[in-house]
Amino acid sequence: MSLVRVHNFSVSLDGYGTGEGQSLESPFGHAGERLHRWFFHTRTFRAMHGEEGGETGVDDAMARAWGDGIGAEIMGRNKFGPQRGPWQDHEWNGWWGPDPVFHTPVFVLTHHPRPTVEMAGGTTFHFVDGSPHEVLARAREAAGGLDVRIGGGPSTIRAFLAADLVDHLHVVVVPILLGRGERLWDGLEGLEERFRIEAVSSPSGVTHLTFTRP
Ligand SMILES: NC(=O)c1ccc[n+]([C@@H]2O[C@H](COP(=O)([O-])OP(=O)(O)OC[C@H]3O[C@@H](n4cnc5c(N)ncnc54)[C@H](OP(=O)(O)O)[C@@H]3O)[C@@H](O)[C@H]2O)c1
Repeated sequence: MSLVRVHNFSVSLDGYGTGEGQSLESPFGHAGERLHRWFFHTRTFRAMHGEEGGETGVDDAMARAWGDGIGAEIMGRNKFGPQRGPWQDHEWNGWWGPDPVFHTPVFVLTHHPRPTVEMAGGTTFHFVDGSPHEVLARAREAAGGLDVRIGGGPSTIRAFLAADLVDHLHVVVVPILLGRGERLWDGLEGLEERFRIEAVSSPSGVTHLTFTRP
């Protein structure tokens, strides 16, 4: 059976995976770029955006696993964009431009379905309403035997963890305090008992935690 994986998911010390007040200009709300500074300097991040160079230390070694063996992604509607409620702007196709970084089918969870959009480079956005189990079954089928990545945001990852559907969780603990936003861990008391947990500290100041099914 293919695995369900989360990669490069950044949380603040107080557990927030995004800040408050998301907008077109600020995808992470008042958190700005602070959750992902560790990522921007890596070779992996630069390659994802068609750029050369970048660092190859601990952060890059951890970040690199993001794409290997992934055949589909599931993301929440608020990761896809800042619109809420019924879609007003069908021209909006995510933050990632005409050739998004995914290059696979992407299932966007929403209670407001809209037609599928095919982007350049193999990314197709499907807008789906369903339980985590139901949407995962569709994503698995589309992934053709490869693994499925849960791309965020925090409430989507939390729902898949609550349903015990995640096999591999890579969380990057960033030494900032956001104070407000959307928290990852709420309602997941005792989660650590379901996983083998490893930690790697990086000179950049972040700690990479991996939760893997034993
Ligand atoms: N820290 C990181 O590494 C990281 C990674 C990715 C994203 N992010 C950030 O996380 C934020 C988004 O996270 P979030 O927790 O606010 O929201 P989210 O998980 O992206 O999306 C939640 C929304 O998805 C829809 N949804 C969720 N489950 C559903 C289901 N089972 N069926 C139908 N629709 C469902 C609902 O939207 P509707 O009811 O409105 O349709 C819900 O409000 C953004 O700021 C993004 O930039 C952070």
